[in-house]
Amino acid sequence: SSPMIHIDPARTISRVDPRIYSGFTEHMGRCIYGGLYEPENPNQLADPNTGFRKDVLDVLRELNVPIFRYPGGNFVSSYRWQDGIGPKHLRPRRPELAWLTEESNLFGTDEFMQFCKEMNAEPYICLNMGTGTLEDALAWLEYCNSSANTHYANLRRANGHPEPYNVKYWSLGNEVWGPWQVGQMESHDYAKKAFQWAKALKLLDPKIQLISCGETGFTDWDRVTLKKLAPVIDYHSIHLYTVSEGNHAVNVMGPAAAEKGLEICKSLIDLAKIEAGLEKQVTVCFDEWNVWDPVRAPGEKGAEEHYDLSDALAVASWLNVFVRKADIVKIACIAQSVNVISPIITSPEGLFKQTTFYPLKLFATLMQGTSLNIHVASPQYTGKTVPEWVEKLENGNGGDEKLTKYIDVSAVLSDSKDEIRVAIVNRNATEAYTVPIRFGPVCDVLETVKVHEVWSADLKDNNGWDGERVHTVEKELPWTGEYLVKEHSFQLLVFKLK
Ligand code: AHR
Repeated sequence: SSPMIHIDPARTISRVDPRIYSGFTEHMGRCIYGGLYEPENPNQLADPNTGFRKDVLDVLRELNVPIFRYPGGNFVSSYRWQDGIGPKHLRPRRPELAWLTEESNLFGTDEFMQFCKEMNAEPYICLNMGTGTLEDALAWLEYCNSSANTHYANLRRANGHPEPYNVKYWSLGNEVWGPWQVGQMESHDYAKKAFQWAKALKLLDPKIQLISCGETGFTDWDRVTLKKLAPVIDYHSIHLYTVSEGNHAVNVMGPAAAEKGLEICKSLIDLAKIEAGLEKQVTVCFDEWNVWDPVRAPGEKGAEEHYDLSDALAVASWLNVFVRKADIVKIACIAQSVNVISPIITSPEGLFKQTTFYPLKLFATLMQGTSLNIHVASPQYTGKTVPEWVEKLENGNGGDEKLTKYIDVSAVLSDSKDEIRVAIVNRNATEAYTVPIRFGPVCDVLETVKVHEVWSADLKDNNGWDGERVHTVEKELPWTGEYLVKEHSFQLLVFKLK
């Protein structure tokens, strides 16, 4: 059908939780070492007191990241957190089993807390349910949060940190279902163990919020673990990466699988709550998402994906999903924040912003407020939405046509209630469309519209040390009631209400 967007600010979905623009810093590749932390930087780019890269922190600040997840990822499943505290010269080097490297432990819990403080972000710790014991987990929680006169709280004080960090978010293991995970478990075994961990952790600190280890939101693992854990958790985590295999349509339609996963996960949460007679809120923490082709950018080699315009459009579509699903997704962490499948690439000399940085920044800055239930008519994409090699793992969008429109849109009403902001991705590689945008029935907009556009002539255009071909262009245009979206483009339109 011909494209058309109809927006009624009275038709609200839910408040967009600012925490959907969160980040993730894993001990993986050059995310921490050589990324955000590089005390020996030869070009004086590091803060002499903390060792943090000043330029990296400045650019991350532009993204206004509310929460950072840490320390993994797969890394956490053989991580001994006790190795990463205290005098640095006494910290042991250890073999590292997720990415088969060596861990120096020069960056650990206290450095991460300092990083979060400087970023004005909240820390989120993922617990080791691989080699780690419940005793280790309780000790970590005590070290971070306790103000008692007990061993690990006193150890934190002895290490120079008198005040507890009050870490609110704790998750019960990472991808415990995955064959690559140290300590992989069957769903029932994990659920039983995580239940006991949750009980003990909340006894030590009832103020924390717990996150169960889910899969994609639409698997039997999710069903089984939610059924058992819903009474003791606050969020269920989901991970999903989309990949292109060189096919733009697959790249930009991939996030439809996440949208479908969220719809199914919401129902699984409802079911678990009904079965357990729960009134409390359980929502989704989508704590790993992004475009990642692990064949092109293998984890063992640091997963330094080099993104192009097509990937930037895929990221914009991902974020549209989170805004549309604001009722169920309350936290989402892009994986990851520096160098590793990241919007920022560093070298000892500096950094550049990848194509994906630009839609992410626009969303984090402007797509805040209340998500609106808009009506979108659009020409329909037909074809596969996941590449061959993951088809069996992630069953795409389940054939749901509403998730694969070429014109992909989300909209918010600003908190001040005087602006409507509309994020539009044209996922068609070759066709531009004129899209009428109607407001109403009882609202109208001013005569001009502010446009933030991410576009480039070639879908393969990317950013690098030789320049940023893909970035945001801003313009103010007279509003005529319709907008010409270029082929393969992203635009965020800001309308002022009359
Ligand atoms: O983000 C990279 C890796 O992807 C994480 O370590 C793991 O949890 C996932 O498989």
